[in-house]
Amino acid sequence: MTLRWLVAAAHLLALGIGLGAVWGRSRALRGPVLDNAAIRRALAADAWWGVAALLWLGTGVWRAFGGLEKGTSYYLANTAFHAKMGLFLLVLVLEIRPMLTLMRWRRALSRGTRLDTEGARTISRLSAVQALLIVGIVLAATAMARGLGLRG
Ligand code: HEM
Repeated sequence: MTLRWLVAAAHLLALGIGLGAVWGRSRALRGPVLDNAAIRRALAADAWWGVAALLWLGTGVWRAFGGLEKGTSYYLANTAFHAKMGLFLLVLVLEIRPMLTLMRWRRALSRGTRLDTEGARTISRLSAVQALLIVGIVLAATAMARGLGLRG
């Protein structure tokens, strides 16, 4: 019972961390001038976004398939769960470009070479879309936890 409670708490904390982080990344890269402070803010937000993703995946898979909650067959028979996984997959696909770009920025910063910040606005837009998708995931998650979308 304690484990179930703590894993559920970690899953929800990931939401607090992740939604703020992806929105912060979007805002940091939105402005017309990208100074060093904005880039550092975006990279810090990106690191927290990564922490949230790992927490979501680790605790989520454990809860769904590790027998902590209602059991695998409950979730697999629930269309709200499928919607949640589809949206989560979309968030991951939209992350490919930001991830590759920000890895390049980090490397350039650590080498002290010039940053090519072209693409910052695209990452800002993608991050805003991801924030919206997270809201959709919350709608699907709360539906699935209450048996909405259960087939049969
Ligand atoms: C962006 C990613 C995610 C978000 C925002 C999210 C959000 C949430 C929220 C808000 C709840 C609480 C629902 C409630 O008790 O009313 C929840 C529960 C849950 N989530 Fe996630 N989640 C995410 C990723 C995942 C992943 C990747 C999995 C599994 C592969 C997963 C599996 C679960 C399970 C099994 C529950 C418990 C539902 C129940 O009480 O029956 N989640 N999630």
